[in-house]
Amino acid sequence: MDSKPSMHRRRLLGAAAALPFAGAAFSQDLPLTPACGAQAALTPRQTEGPFYTPDTPQRGSFVEPGSRAQRLMLSGRVVSPQCRPVARALLDFWHCDEKGEYDNVGFRNRGHLYADAEGRFRLETVFPAIYPGRARHIHVKVQAPGRRILTTQLYFPGDARDGLWRPELVVAMERRPEARHAAFQFIIDA
Ligand SMILES: [Fe+2]
Repeated sequence: MDSKPSMHRRRLLGAAAALPFAGAAFSQDLPLTPACGAQAALTPRQTEGPFYTPDTPQRGSFVEPGSRAQRLMLSGRVVSPQCRPVARALLDFWHCDEKGEYDNVGFRNRGHLYADAEGRFRLETVFPAIYPGRARHIHVKVQAPGRRILTTQLYFPGDARDGLWRPELVVAMERRPEARHAAFQFIIDA
C-alpha cells in the first residue's frame, strides 16, 4: 500500500477558498474544501481498503469509449499548509464504477496523474455508485516528490454517511448538464 516505490510521499489537505485556477480545464467556480493557511490541518489519512492495485496507468481520464455513465470531473490542487503549490505531486485514484463494482483484474477506474507546476490536477471519470456498507467515495494516494504517501478517501455532499466519512474529506460539487464537477484541495507536508 504505502510502499509503492515509484511514488513520492504526500499528505493532503482540503481548502475552502474560491478556486484560483485560471485554466478552463478546472472547475473555476467551485469552492475548495479546507483552506490552507495559518489554521490549516493536513488532509486526514484513511484506510486504503481491500481493492488497491499498484502500478496503475498514467492518464487523466478513466472514461471508456462508448460509456454512457454519468461523468465526474474532479479537479483541485495539492498544496502545503502554507499554501505553497506542490508541483508534480503524484495522485493515484481508484474507485468503483456506476454499478458499485471495482475492477480487481484490470485498471478500469484506476490510474495516476501528476499535478502541474501550480499543484493543480484534473481527472475525468465516471460518478461512482454507492455500494453496500459504504458511503460514496473515491480512493486516492497523494505524494509530494520524494515524500511519504498519503492514502485517503474523498466523499460527496448530500450522500448517506458511514463510519469512515469525514467532513474534511468532502468535495465541493456542482451538477452541470454534461457532468458533475467536484473540487478538492489536498493539504500535505511537502
Ligand atoms: Fe472503496
